[in-house]
Amino acid sequence: MSSIEEEIQTIDKNFPNLSQDFQIPTFKSLGLSTNESQITYLCGNSLGLMPTQTRKAINDELDAWSQRGVESHFSHPGSETQGKTNWMDIDLPCIPKLSPIVGSLDSEIAIMGSLTSNLNALMVAFYQPQGSKTKILFEKNSFPSDYYAIFNQIKLKNLDPLENIIQLEPKEGEYHLRTQDILDTIEANHKELALIMLPGIQYYTGQFFDIEKITKFAKKFNIIVGWDLAHAVGNVPLHLHDWNVDFATWCSYKYLNSGPGGISGIFIHEIHGKIDEDNYKPRLSGWWGNNSSKRFQMLEKFEPIEGALGFRQSNPSVIDVVSLNSSLDIFNKAGGIQKLRNKSILLTNLLEKLLKSTKYYISPKDSFTLNSNELKFTIITPESPLERGAQLSLLFFPRTNVEIGEPGIMDKIFSSLRNQGVIGDERRPDVIRLAPIPLYNSAKDVQKAVDSLVKAFEELEK
Ligand SMILES: *Cc1c(COP(=O)(O)O)cnc(C)c1O
Ligand SMILES: *[C@@H]1O[C@H](CO)[C@@H](O)[C@H](O)[C@H]1NC(C)=O
Ligand SMILES: *[C@@H]1O[C@H](CO)[C@@H](O)[C@H](O)[C@H]1NC(C)=O
Ligand SMILES: *[C@@H]1O[C@H](CO)[C@@H](O)[C@H](O)[C@H]1NC(C)=O
Ligand SMILES: *[C@@H]1O[C@H](CO)[C@@H](O)[C@H](O)[C@H]1NC(C)=O
Ligand SMILES: *[C@@H]1O[C@H](CO)[C@@H](O)[C@H](O)[C@H]1NC(C)=O
Ligand SMILES: *[C@@H]1O[C@H](CO)[C@@H](O)[C@H](O)[C@H]1NC(C)=O
Repeated sequence: MSSIEEEIQTIDKNFPNLSQDFQIPTFKSLGLSTNESQITYLCGNSLGLMPTQTRKAINDELDAWSQRGVESHFSHPGSETQGKTNWMDIDLPCIPKLSPIVGSLDSEIAIMGSLTSNLNALMVAFYQPQGSKTKILFEKNSFPSDYYAIFNQIKLKNLDPLENIIQLEPKEGEYHLRTQDILDTIEANHKELALIMLPGIQYYTGQFFDIEKITKFAKKFNIIVGWDLAHAVGNVPLHLHDWNVDFATWCSYKYLNSGPGGISGIFIHEIHGKIDEDNYKPRLSGWWGNNSSKRFQMLEKFEPIEGALGFRQSNPSVIDVVSLNSSLDIFNKAGGIQKLRNKSILLTNLLEKLLKSTKYYISPKDSFTLNSNELKFTIITPESPLERGAQLSLLFFPRTNVEIGEPGIMDKIFSSLRNQGVIGDERRPDVIRLAPIPLYNSAKDVQKAVDSLVKAFEELEK
């Protein structure tokens, strides 16, 4: 047995195989063939797979709705026999399951809304331009939704977005940012910065920012720091409380497997959750943020709940919350986020090693001077496991020539992978992201993906 084969077997032996807890698509269910074997799904960074128990969890709520209608808000038919939660408090049992994943106090998080609308709501509360401090530090090549949100938050304050967004960009000849450059930019602009708003893990490159270091540095200059954790939550361990992050938000349908469009969450550091008059943070508000003891009296006074719950606006979607609840249980079953991260590092390191051993790999540095007709790929994700999560982003050559409308090879590689039963995530024009998910992927899956990639290149060479 080769050392690689041994490594693969060791990884798969040392961690529990939870693939039974998830619905993994098959060649047949994807319409690829009549073969009922499972395909290789390396796309949980885009949409996590469905936990097997989610179907029942949702059905139970449909039963409650059909059996008791509105009364299930206060008296759920399964509350005594099945440990179900009255709809009124449906989100609360998820909180102690999620707080270890984001590293917060229970009182610092709430399960609510959707990512972009939470991002907007939190910026309304936290982006307070004053005097010369009006700017937001952000990144170029960001997820468009975040850019639109930031751009328009600045307009809402009657300021010019183009003058008030500072966008970080990788150095020429590099594919991702350096922490030192971020710190230098903060220092150089600290007199003008009102807010730093960055992704915990960059969706395109897979770069995991040094949240602790960046936050600490910015705090020296009294700058508010918020993080979009769409690609970080459930992927890498986080310590938002200890890192003194001011606020954060995330979605739960990527690494948290809560289903398409699933419910989002927010983190508000306890220093900002206070409700005494000196500390109260003005915010977008609604009845679900009010002290529930009197919520249904509909009096005119708004007396928010202390902590993150006081930032809730609406009653949450019950179906979405139970779907999240059922996935969070599997994180526990797997031994928690740190154990998953341990497996994740092994899987992603293996993926990197196997990719680099193919003859189609070229180093990031050399990729900038490649001959225009060579069939190659490089990895634009940082090489250090400390600077990335599960995902590796592969950039393919020849690249698309946008000016003359000539496509690169990525699309062809992507469809060949799919035909071979390997589902990754394509980001046009030229990137495929592969993310082995420690909850349901194995080292064997990683090997299968790399073998299929080599085949895809070989088909192109014919
Ligand atoms: C996935 C993702 C989104 C999606 O936003 P929704 O409001 O959930 O549609 C936004 N920003 C980033 C960085 C993402 O990765
Ligand atoms: C089905 O696909 C699997 C995985 O690719 C393969 O090992 C198996 O031989 C296939 N079965 C049939 C009947 O073709
Ligand atoms: C949430 O998960 C727990 C198990 O941790 C389960 O007992 C409970 O019934 C679930 N709640 C709902 C509303 O599905
Ligand atoms: C909000 O809560 C406060 C304190 O419990 C209460 O006085 C007020 O009536 C509530 N408002 C609404 C609209 O429920
Ligand atoms: C709600 O209000 C009651 C009485 O007004 C108070 O005792 C309780 O602590 C409040 N709860 C929260 C969560 O703020
Ligand atoms: C993760 O791995 C480290 C060593 O690599 C080990 O010390 C630690 O106990 C592991 N954590 C868990 C929760 O398995
Ligand atoms: C995990 O378990 C499933 C179902 O029992 C099995 O088909 C699969 O081969 C196992 N995977 C590994 C890597 O052992």
